[in-house]
This record gives sequence, structure tokens and C-alpha cells, in this order.
Amino acid sequence: EGRITVRDIRQRKGGAPLVCLTAYTAPMAELLDPFCDILLVGDSVGMVVHGLPSTVGVTLDMMILHGRAVMRGSRRAMVVVDLPFGSCEGAPEAAFANAVRVLQETGAHAVKIECAPAVLGNVRYLVERGVPVMGHVGLRPQAVLAEGGFRARGREAEERLQVLSEMRGAIEAGVFALVVEGVAEALASEITTQCPVPTIGIGASAACDGQILVTEDMLGLFERSPRFVRRYGDLRGLVSSAVERYAADVAARRFPGSGETYFSARRKLGVPPV
Ligand code: KIV
Ligand code: NA
Repeated sequence: EGRITVRDIRQRKGGAPLVCLTAYTAPMAELLDPFCDILLVGDSVGMVVHGLPSTVGVTLDMMILHGRAVMRGSRRAMVVVDLPFGSCEGAPEAAFANAVRVLQETGAHAVKIECAPAVLGNVRYLVERGVPVMGHVGLRPQAVLAEGGFRARGREAEERLQVLSEMRGAIEAGVFALVVEGVAEALASEITTQCPVPTIGIGASAACDGQILVTEDMLGLFERSPRFVRRYGDLRGLVSSAVERYAADVAARRFPGSGETYFSARRKLGVPPV
């Protein structure tokens, strides 16, 4: 059967909503794969898994390591890997070499790039050379240092025009889909109407052609999550109560029990020890 392709994703414009989640590890990818069209190896891994204060500290090597794990754990979803801060802003040849490393070393089929105006030339350069690129506009987390924090974008007229022009730039550069993050419904709706490829919203209303969330946010495992997240689980609660019971069992020598213990071969065969 094979994986969902760039062509499949493009054809979903205006159709059944695209179901997307982030994944960073093989076991999580395996759990998500049957339900998702796209698994995104997001650079959010830096904050969610590695404890970094923002995504700015994430390296290409980290993305490749997690990309390989997610490819091993999945077989049906399209896997998209984020190009991290610094990997795409320099010379086009350098951006291309970085994207090629990601595709060749992970086996993923596409990369995602945050579409600041200055990288659009490189996005086009990659697309023309056969690298499928998903764009990302609106709130762009890699711009956190320059912006001085995270906040919804495009709520005022001037900024709305900025986000719309980011969107047009990304389309002209040839992206096959577009993540739209942290924008009000009216703008998300305008972007989705104008955009010929599927829009995938995160904190961007139900107007988009699909939705994505950080898996650990929606499972209640990562606590610093934004208000647009809906919690579908409470993994923090589950993990902490499991660990509490484990600690109590170890302390009271209730774990391990005989069913969790190896014995010598003789005893296992019922032969009395010599
Ligand atoms: O890094 C990430 O997880 C992302 C998505 C949430 C869109 O870019
Ligand atoms: Na990201």
C-alpha cells in the first residue's frame, strides 16, 4: 500500500479534514499512525522532550535523530520533518544541503519551513530541486527571540496584511500545504479561501482544511500548553500515579514478586537443588 503522498495531501484541499499530530519517537508514531494523515516531527521536540526554553536551540542532528525514530515507528502516514532555526536562513546551497540530509538520513518525504519573508527564496530553491516543502505562517515559533514572546498574529489590520503576504509568498514558492498557527478565525478563513493548497490549523479555528496539535499537549503530558489546546487525556496524572505506586511497592518489597523473578533452571523444571 505505501505511505500517504504529497499528491494525496494536495488533493485534500477543501475535502475531508486532514488529521495531523506531532511525533518524536517510534512508539508514539506507532500509536498515532493508524489515525493520522501526517505525522510532523516538529522542532517543538526541543521544548517538549529536551526541556529547551524555545525551539531556537534545536539542531539539524536532533531533527534527524527523531525523524528516523518516527519513520521506524510508522508505515502509513506521511512524515514531515521541521527544518530547525538556522538551517534555512543562509545561502540556498546550504539550505538545500540541510534539507537533503533530512530526507536522505531519515527517509521522510517532506520538510516544513517557517516562512519568514527572508527564507522564501530558499523555499523556492528547494521545491525546484525536488524537495517537498510544507510552509508555516502566522505565529512562527522560531521568531520568538525577535518577537519577544509568543502571541496570536494578525489581529490588527497591518499584521493581517503581513500574514496574508507570508501566505502568498509561501504559495508562490511552491509549498504543498501550509500550517497556519495562532491567527483569528476571520484571517484563517480568508487564508484558507485564498490558498490553493490545504491549510492545517493550530490555534487557527475550524476554518482550516485540517488540524494539528502537539501530541503531548493534547494528551496532557506537557504542562505549559497554549489555550487553543483541547486536552484529550491526562497522561501526567496517569504517569505520576503509576510512579507513586511503583515507588511504594519497591519501598515495601512488594515488587518484584515471584511472577516477575527468574529462578535457576533446576527449580523451574521442578528438580530439587543438589
Ligand atoms: O514544531 C511543531 O510541533 C510545529 C507544529 C505544532 C505545527 O511546528
Ligand atoms: Na515547528
